[in-house]
Amino acid sequence: MTGPKKRVAVLISGRGSNMTALIEAAQAKDYPAEIVLVVSNQPDAAGLARAREAAIATAVVDHRPFGKDREAFERALDDELRKHGIEIVCLAGFMRLLTSWFIGRWRGRILNIHPALLPEFKGLDTHRRALEAGVKRHGATVHFVVEETDAGPIVSQQSVPVLQGDTEATLAARVLEIEHRIYPEALRLVAEGRVRFAAAQPEIKNPRG
Ligand code: GRF
Repeated sequence: MTGPKKRVAVLISGRGSNMTALIEAAQAKDYPAEIVLVVSNQPDAAGLARAREAAIATAVVDHRPFGKDREAFERALDDELRKHGIEIVCLAGFMRLLTSWFIGRWRGRILNIHPALLPEFKGLDTHRRALEAGVKRHGATVHFVVEETDAGPIVSQQSVPVLQGDTEATLAARVLEIEHRIYPEALRLVAEGRVRFAAAQPEIKNPRG
């Protein structure tokens, strides 16, 4: 590893198992990032206690007092991130849609994990929808966050088989194992600068017309 470790915040709303996977991976000496802050928009998120147990600074930025003013909520969130000198933000089960203001400020430096093989099954209830669609393979994706939900450039993706008799719960558990593996790998790639966000390139016209 060259250079100082990148300072990372993990944003959560719930149990925080991906957050825990990132914290555990970042404990390795040669890991290029350190998790210095966990922020939740839900004061009672179970992940907060797990972060505190790991001696990581936590903050709650409750979205409710801000009502419909999403940008005001995000300004408070952004203040927390800046206060801690954060360089990369990892969304891990963070259940708020972000505005273009926030995404613009952090462009190329926000990652998200989505429980499906993007671009398949964007949005919620991915496991139920995968079962209904009868797909043979399902999985998880880590991607850069852009304005369009679940549509940013993919950093890492891995698939699992969908097995006969799978329920949402069994499929979710199989995918979650993958999530815990690919999120730390993807963060490593981004923290080391081996994968970088690039804005979409203009279409190259076929020179032969
Ligand atoms: C994960 O399935 C993740 O892919 C999705 O939300 C869930 C969060 O789980 N975005 P956890 O809080 O990390 O356990």
